[in-house]
Amino acid sequence: MAPRRFTDIVHCRHPIVAAPMGAVSGGRLAAAVSAAGGFGLVGGGYTRDRAWLERELDLARDMAKVGVGFITWSAAAQPDHVDLVLERRPKAIMLSFGDPAPIAAKAQRAGIAVICQVQTVAMARDAVSKGADVIVAQGTEAGGHGAACATLPLVPAVVDAVGDKVPVLAAGGIADGRGLAAAWALGADGVLLGTRFYAADEALVHPAAKQKVVTEDGAATVRGSAVDLIRGYHWPASFTIRTLVNDFVQRWNGREDDLARELATEMPRYAAAAEAGDFDHAAVIVGEAAGLVHDVLPAGDIVRRIAQEAADVVARLAVR
Ligand SMILES: Cc1cc2nc3c(=O)[nH]c(=O)nc-3n(C[C@H](O)[C@H](O)[C@H](O)COP(=O)(O)O)c2cc1C
Repeated sequence: MAPRRFTDIVHCRHPIVAAPMGAVSGGRLAAAVSAAGGFGLVGGGYTRDRAWLERELDLARDMAKVGVGFITWSAAAQPDHVDLVLERRPKAIMLSFGDPAPIAAKAQRAGIAVICQVQTVAMARDAVSKGADVIVAQGTEAGGHGAACATLPLVPAVVDAVGDKVPVLAAGGIADGRGLAAAWALGADGVLLGTRFYAADEALVHPAAKQKVVTEDGAATVRGSAVDLIRGYHWPASFTIRTLVNDFVQRWNGREDDLARELATEMPRYAAAAEAGDFDHAAVIVGEAAGLVHDVLPAGDIVRRIAQEAADVVARLAVR
């Protein structure tokens, strides 16, 4: 039987969580995932755009069934946006990349569960000491921002360190039921997926970018910082962003100092490419799990398929 520690906290059926991908995971995606028995999170991201946040929270409709994720270092600078989210009373908030303490304390006072995404064992211990109710152990295979440890060794190490206190979810490189069954085998209670849901019908992504994920191989991704620099985001150096390899990252990753001198011409060029759906130049922000994504589907079908595949894997292993 599937572990129930996580699902009991957020009251969902399947321990399959759609990541709060900033500006990608809107209210419709989160609601569709939760309606299918998973748990959907709206991607509050940098929380720069209050109107976007308000609209997507409206689209999520029943806030008691979904969560909202923040990029912690950015959200700390926009406390009014955090307050707006907490007033809507989501089932949980998720904090990634930064000190969770101040926002976690606010959420706890409001009786809202706190999910913290971490990249090392030390970060997991720290987050639990600051009130995390759930830990997401994110391996370097993940799409978007992350660090250096791979999922396979990181997840059991985090389970060993904090799994007796809180449930642990595995993230990074997981896109199907085999990955969920593997996460269970490592001692995790469930999984959190970004790249798979990037190619969901409801994801707020240009159709051409979704098609890239379907056709590209997981080996065609790389970590770097040029994509942050060109978008005007000042990330702590310990975190890089994984994207598909394209002309832009091939030219500029590792040459961020040179890019910094060219921003006046390169920034508008990049913004125009993103607007036009030119993904040889604009980034497709996904991880190595792209190699497992072969179709664009409604989010609910993704949840149901992963749940069924994982049950089949467990049944197959049981008769060996
Ligand atoms: C397009 C994209 C945007 C992301 N944005 C965020 C974000 O705003 N906040 C966050 O906590 N994680 C973000 N992530 C990382 C996810 O939370 C998660 O760790 C990752 O997607 C898991 O790995 P996977 O992509 O292999 O499924 C993002 C991931 C992707 C693919």
